[in-house]
Amino acid sequence: MPADIATIVDPDTYLTGVPHEALARLRAESAVVWMDEPAIDQWPAGPGFWGVLRHAEVKEVMRNPAVYSSHLGATQISDPPGDKALAFVRQMMLNQDPPEHSRLRKLLTRAFTPRAIARLEDRIAGWARELVTNVADRTECDFATEVAADLPLLTLAELFGVPSADRWLMFDWSNRVIGYQDTEYALSARAGADGSTDMAKRAIALRPRPDEHGRLPDQRTRAGMPDLYAYAHELGEYKRRNPGDDIMSNLMREVDDEGGRVSVGEFENLFWLFSVAGNETLRNALPGGLFALMSHVDEYRRLRADRSLLGPAVDEMLRWWSPVMRFRRTATVDTELGGTRIRAGDKIVVWFSAANRDERAFAEPDRFDIAREPNDHLGFGHGPHYCIGAHLAKVQMRALFTALFDVLGEVEPAGEPVRLRSNFQNGIKHLPIRRRT
Ligand code: HEM
Repeated sequence: MPADIATIVDPDTYLTGVPHEALARLRAESAVVWMDEPAIDQWPAGPGFWGVLRHAEVKEVMRNPAVYSSHLGATQISDPPGDKALAFVRQMMLNQDPPEHSRLRKLLTRAFTPRAIARLEDRIAGWARELVTNVADRTECDFATEVAADLPLLTLAELFGVPSADRWLMFDWSNRVIGYQDTEYALSARAGADGSTDMAKRAIALRPRPDEHGRLPDQRTRAGMPDLYAYAHELGEYKRRNPGDDIMSNLMREVDDEGGRVSVGEFENLFWLFSVAGNETLRNALPGGLFALMSHVDEYRRLRADRSLLGPAVDEMLRWWSPVMRFRRTATVDTELGGTRIRAGDKIVVWFSAANRDERAFAEPDRFDIAREPNDHLGFGHGPHYCIGAHLAKVQMRALFTALFDVLGEVEPAGEPVRLRSNFQNGIKHLPIRRRT
């Protein structure tokens, strides 16, 4: 396998950074490149896949679910282990195609009422300020674990009406699902029984333990997440009986076109999806955005001085950092993409980390420009699965950077960042910072 492709696929590469030069060399040659699929840790080797590297072709794939399916082989590179596991992941809307996908998507859109969102936005601003103020007296702190990690948890807890004391469970679950290529994250157990509800204690007691080889059950199976499902089931049953004024209670009240309701089983799967999708993604975007600012001090100062640039700056962080680096589809028919013949059944992997640096779509793509205009980045995907939490993610990013500028002013690195071992999420696990004096 050519060296550049091996580099892109190897999760160890990302311990030192995203291989932008290798991606650029391949992108210059072709929009679509065949990539081998070696065994990675406990996941076996696969047949290989088409890597899509250019902006226009990534959009073409994402807006065309009839040709490039999320349902057929789900959305991770490696196939789920067996038919039962495939059937399991297909219950998540992420791994469905229209029209099946449209039902939940429509119901969710209705549950995010302007009133519920406005209330959430107020709370987010308060939490962001509190989190930054908590570290203001310290000479140094770890921005990733001590500041950024909690904001998505507080937000998700509010969205689901989860008791705030239980929120670190979601931290562990999303680490286990998304950070499976990184031992520290795969075995994450930050939520303790102390101070949490009885419901959380019952879930923690079910946390899977590694076998004698240090391996956990595959997190893409129900057996891999027994603690999450136990918790989600109790919460779903409770909400069915006692709906509150949170967004997920709104969802439970909604009625679909056929007069049906969201079942407790569907609620459990949504709980799985949101705990993961609305959590680590943002936890990586926040330190990623701060890393971008700290490595472009002029842009940092420009933004601090002109907060009207916060909106475009957040989009530029999402483009430049690309917290989610890739997703998969499967071709349903023989087709052609960017001049390459694709056969029905082939795996297609869109690389946002490459498309977001495509010179055909962005002038000087490697430059971090907080006022970039236009900025048609693909950080939240594109088409029917476009991130449903994009607005909430941006609200959280704007709130945390506002609080950081107000309370800490200018900060600088206080040590090397520690990066996540993953070819899926562009993650920073630890980001030591201190106030610049
Ligand atoms: C910066 C943070 C985030 C990034 C980079 C991100 C990225 C993405 C991407 C790329 C997709 C498309 C997946 C695909 O096409 O297969 C997606 C979907 C999704 N995201 Fe996000 N996301 C973020 C934050 C959030 C938040 C805060 C939430 C919830 C509160 C959320 C919930 C979801 C859900 C439920 C889906 C699936 C939508 C569907 O299948 O229709 N995400 N996200």
